[in-house]
Amino acid sequence: MIRSVIRGVGSALPRRVMKNAEFERIVDTSDEWIVQRTGIRQRHIAEPDETTASLGEAAARAALGDAGMDPAEIDLIVLATSTPNNTFPATAVEIQERLGIRHGFAFDLQAVCSGFVYAMGTADLYLRGGLARRVLVIGSETFSRLLDWTDRTTCVLFGDGAGAVVLEAGEGNGSVSDRGILAASLRSDGSHKEKLFVDGGASTTGTIGHLRMEGREVFKHAVAMITDVVESVFAKAGITASDLDWFVPHQANKRIIDASARKLGIAEEKVVVTVDLHGNTSAASVPLALAAAVADGRIKKGHLVLLEAMGGGFTWGAVLLRW
Ligand code: ACO
Repeated sequence: MIRSVIRGVGSALPRRVMKNAEFERIVDTSDEWIVQRTGIRQRHIAEPDETTASLGEAAARAALGDAGMDPAEIDLIVLATSTPNNTFPATAVEIQERLGIRHGFAFDLQAVCSGFVYAMGTADLYLRGGLARRVLVIGSETFSRLLDWTDRTTCVLFGDGAGAVVLEAGEGNGSVSDRGILAASLRSDGSHKEKLFVDGGASTTGTIGHLRMEGREVFKHAVAMITDVVESVFAKAGITASDLDWFVPHQANKRIIDASARKLGIAEEKVVVTVDLHGNTSAASVPLALAAAVADGRIKKGHLVLLEAMGGGFTWGAVLLRW
């Protein structure tokens, strides 16, 4: 059977690093509060010349370099983002153009913080269905442009960045020892949409709006939703938490990450954490963490890796893969 195998991974971050202490001059907060409640110490913030397209292009080029592939070998780009360069066309086609690709197809996918996990599940179906051979799956965001910089309950939490992987169709025997994506589980429930949303849009206000979040409400649901999809992929693949080599969760809050890992019985030393360095970069957070753990040699060929995310909608999902 066809398996979607990761051939390369890469990431890109804006030049400017913003430490927690800088927020003390903007809103009524402290480095101590932010670290204690979230685990975040700094985030990267895009300058005007850095956009979702430029960061996505840089991450894609890094992933292609890691795979030893040329852009011409890619026939599909799936970009997970909630912060497109323009309302349309899809920022994915802008990245396609920047990479000099004139064949194949490209589209954006919007599932907020779950975007990268949704995009991996989606790309897997295109590969297994034979509609593509090599896919660039990118998560790229410039959430700083959506923030209300006077609202201390949200502006301290988010950052900008991009991560990407190259997926290629490979042969597997259908067992859990195959390399590639082994199982995916995706969920959404729009009845929670008021808890985390942007109060603008093309069809309503005609503006891009600002991010609004009931943080405590999101927190309350996060661990149960994460556990739900993770247990679903474990059941589909016939594995348990102890079989995992690495857990790469969405990087929203260290307390949510710790509580989820504890509830799932995943040992602390198997959890990849980058929220301290990047903040919550929405659809970019999982591939940024993945790229970090591959670059420093933690994730190696043959390792069993679990990706997970939860975000606005609510949307939530998990992907299990062998590196
Ligand atoms: N600095 C200082 N005090 C603050 C700040 C701040 N930056 N922000 C809020 N506070 C205050 C609040 O006003 C409140 O004060 P009060 O008790 O006088 O009313 C107090 O701190 C406690 O606020 P809570 O909201 O209860 O704090 P909590 O411990 O829940 O932490 C947080 C807030 C960090 C937002 C947490 O709820 C959280 O992480 N929620 C989940 C967010 C998340 O995971 N999002 C993921 C999806 S993101 C996406 O899809 C785009």
